[in-house]
Amino acid sequence: KSIVVLISGNGSNLQAVIDACASGFIAGQVTAVISNKTAVFGLQRAAEAGIANHALSHKNFASRDAYDKELIKLIDSYQPDLVVLAGFMRILTAGFVNHFSGKLLNIHPSLLPKYQGLNTHQRAIDAGDSEHGCSVHFVTEQLDGGPVILQAKVPVFPNDDAKAVAARVHEQEHQLYPLVIRWFCQNRLQQRGDKAWLDNN
Ligand code: GRF
Repeated sequence: KSIVVLISGNGSNLQAVIDACASGFIAGQVTAVISNKTAVFGLQRAAEAGIANHALSHKNFASRDAYDKELIKLIDSYQPDLVVLAGFMRILTAGFVNHFSGKLLNIHPSLLPKYQGLNTHQRAIDAGDSEHGCSVHFVTEQLDGGPVILQAKVPVFPNDDAKAVAARVHEQEHQLYPLVIRWFCQNRLQQRGDKAWLDNN
């Protein structure tokens, strides 16, 4: 399977996916990595793994629509079976989301439907939650609102700051995302309307 990964930064989740493909855990290849920000470490990770990588800066486009159209073109040139958002910090247009419907995944650092949007770790601490985590979901037109596939939980301890919680969540993300992508590449995972469907056989 051909997997295109979209990033905006460090790319530690990207690295987890690259490693899982290299080890055979995922029956697929990351064929391209695209960042909306230039000179981020994730692009270097891709280059080091010998993967095609592109910085497509949104700053050069007049509208969200124009950017997303160009992004679609670039992604489509790799004929992906799956498009993976891994810390891609941009809201996508309905046109984009619908174009890749059923093959677009995101990882979000909260136990959805809790804490959609930004600053999830601080918000979990402020709410006094004793439990927090991350979710992998299919992307729909609703921001962070598509069908959840799998979640991982971490504890939140009384004296934790956001950094400590983020590190604990990140560790789980690096397990969770490769597992879901493995299922997708095994043809065991599908988006069916507002539900995620997993073949357990
Ligand atoms: C992760 O916490 C992910 O859940 C969120 O953005 C962060 C990306 O981290 N969407 P990295 O770039 O993969 O290290």
